[in-house]
Amino acid sequence: MKNSKIYIWILSGIILALTIQACAKPRIIIDASKTKTLISPTMWGIFFEDINFGGDGGLYAELVKNRSFEFTDGMMGWSKTTKRGARGVISIRDTNSFEPANPHYLRIEVRGAGEGFGVTNEGFRGIGIQKGKKYWFSVYARSPIEPMSFKVEVIASDGRKLAEARFSDVSGDWTKYTCSMEAMDTDAKAKLNLLATRKGLLDVDMVSLFPEDSALSFKGYPVPGLRKDLVQMLADLRPGFFRFPGGCIVEGRDLDNRYQWKNTIGDINRRKTIICRWNNEFDHRYTPDYFQSFGLGFYEYFLLAEQIGAEPMPIINCGMACQFNTAQLAPMDELGSYVQDALDLIEFANGPATSEWGSKRAEMGHPEPFNMKMLGIGNEQWGPQYIERYKVFVKAIKEKYPDIKLIAATGSDPEIFPNGPAEVKYLQTELRKLNAEIIDEHFYRGPDWFLKSADHYDNYERNGPKIFVGEYGAQSVGVASPDNRNNLHCALAEAAFMIGLERNADLVRMSCYAPLFGNANAWQWTPDLIWFDNLRVYGTPNYYVQRMFSLNRGDKVLSVQLNDLPEMEGQKKSLYVSSSLDEKEGYVIVKAVNITAETINATVELQGTGELSPNAKAIVLSSDKLTDENSLDNPKKVYPIESNLPISGSTFNYGFKPYSLTVLRVPLK
Ligand code: AHR
Repeated sequence: MKNSKIYIWILSGIILALTIQACAKPRIIIDASKTKTLISPTMWGIFFEDINFGGDGGLYAELVKNRSFEFTDGMMGWSKTTKRGARGVISIRDTNSFEPANPHYLRIEVRGAGEGFGVTNEGFRGIGIQKGKKYWFSVYARSPIEPMSFKVEVIASDGRKLAEARFSDVSGDWTKYTCSMEAMDTDAKAKLNLLATRKGLLDVDMVSLFPEDSALSFKGYPVPGLRKDLVQMLADLRPGFFRFPGGCIVEGRDLDNRYQWKNTIGDINRRKTIICRWNNEFDHRYTPDYFQSFGLGFYEYFLLAEQIGAEPMPIINCGMACQFNTAQLAPMDELGSYVQDALDLIEFANGPATSEWGSKRAEMGHPEPFNMKMLGIGNEQWGPQYIERYKVFVKAIKEKYPDIKLIAATGSDPEIFPNGPAEVKYLQTELRKLNAEIIDEHFYRGPDWFLKSADHYDNYERNGPKIFVGEYGAQSVGVASPDNRNNLHCALAEAAFMIGLERNADLVRMSCYAPLFGNANAWQWTPDLIWFDNLRVYGTPNYYVQRMFSLNRGDKVLSVQLNDLPEMEGQKKSLYVSSSLDEKEGYVIVKAVNITAETINATVELQGTGELSPNAKAIVLSSDKLTDENSLDNPKKVYPIESNLPISGSTFNYGFKPYSLTVLRVPLK
């Protein structure tokens, strides 16, 4: 009897202890005296590619599609317009053209002028026009027979005229005609008419319309022709680096279609238009009107990087076309011109204004060097073909420019490219043997993978190349599925993964989400970080995750210990936490993702900080459902909210909201 009483007592004790343990309050212990590693200023950056009409029809503010009549179908984007009483014929011609690099132009042959005969441009899924805003129109025109006159009109989707300008005495030589027009109303789907108003011939080329605020400058800095609201979205991210021009666009479907930076600088009239490789890549989003005018070219990319305070990171073709498409290879004995392109690019960016390529930069308006520090050799390349080409590039570049950091490709996401894991292993092994400085890894996976892979780099080989996570994005349905959503679930999964990147900042030096932009009316690939239409733009929850990380980077990783967290199934955690020290500004920064549907009330213990100021802040991105997302009509449904967090000491309680990313900023005294 006595024994069984003792037994019951012991048993109850054990149960009580277990219950206390199960209910113990989660603890986050951060030790600021144990700084683990430095965080690179380039840790969080951006990846730009002209995909989803992100360049032409997006960031590049030109409103006229096929302005130089160089699309495969020269009339694409244009249609004949005959006003009352008019008659005539239009044709695409290339004799005595205005610019041999883009030889085609439009001839308007007027047999009866009536109220105007000519063409209408549909813009990029319409032309976005805003009331009271000024638009800069320009055209090269000539009249081969006798003086001609013409008018331009901006017409709203309901037929109202929003702006008009008239030109007369068009002469026989190609001449640029320009004017500024103020819009009388707003319309997202306006059109542009160009109508001859006399009998005779009118030849036109480079028909162009820009919002004046974009064409002239951004914040007083000359970035020609970039859409101001989209640039602002990039500037707000305060990115550490700016990767351009892609992406698969670097490689092209075949080598002719590859990105050749030299064709994208200098006079825009001479920048040869080519088909965009995303034009016909996906049957689900076939976009036959997708071309690259290169109005947004390498000079503009460098300027933009400088303007938004990001390190420029160009990626160069390495003699290999996209291995998902033709996989065409430049023979090794013809690689010289590709390597020369890389060397010349460095001179263009950094060389003195007196050097051959530096002088081209200076002529365009930037005599000072751009101070480029890194260059990517190829985008998603694999196989021995890559290694043998990579070696040639490294040798030539390092001989001349030993300080330029070179980024090596390690194929595409191992899960989606042919023989992926084995190819990645092969590349990693070979690149290690070659002492590669930085290798570029890509991840397009489901949100669960990102949650389970927050520790992806924890046990990674440290001796050797640093890592650049050069493209990633959680795909809610499947890789590049048209049904993927930029929802909170994906954004939080990426945030959990980024917490892992931050923890491994000694190894992972840079990272960026991809793709950057999606034109809501003309995309091919979803999800994307920033969506826009002709007049509006919004950041996805994923965008705000990137912004919260970038604006709260910190410069040193702090040690974090997590005790008594609620359990989750699989390899997932309920709460993902990292911490960093911003020494310059004097803050301890805590980032935490709560992926559960419940508030997690935790004790936060900050050790080794010295005295803390009580004026902490909490910035929280959350929403009711993981499926919540932003949209053009509701751009801030999922939006970070900042609030004061008064604390009375170095240990405090904090309730991490359900489905949230939280950044706590605790000022040091
Ligand atoms: O980001 C979209 C595409 O995904 C990139 O162009 C390519 O590098 C990757 O396969």
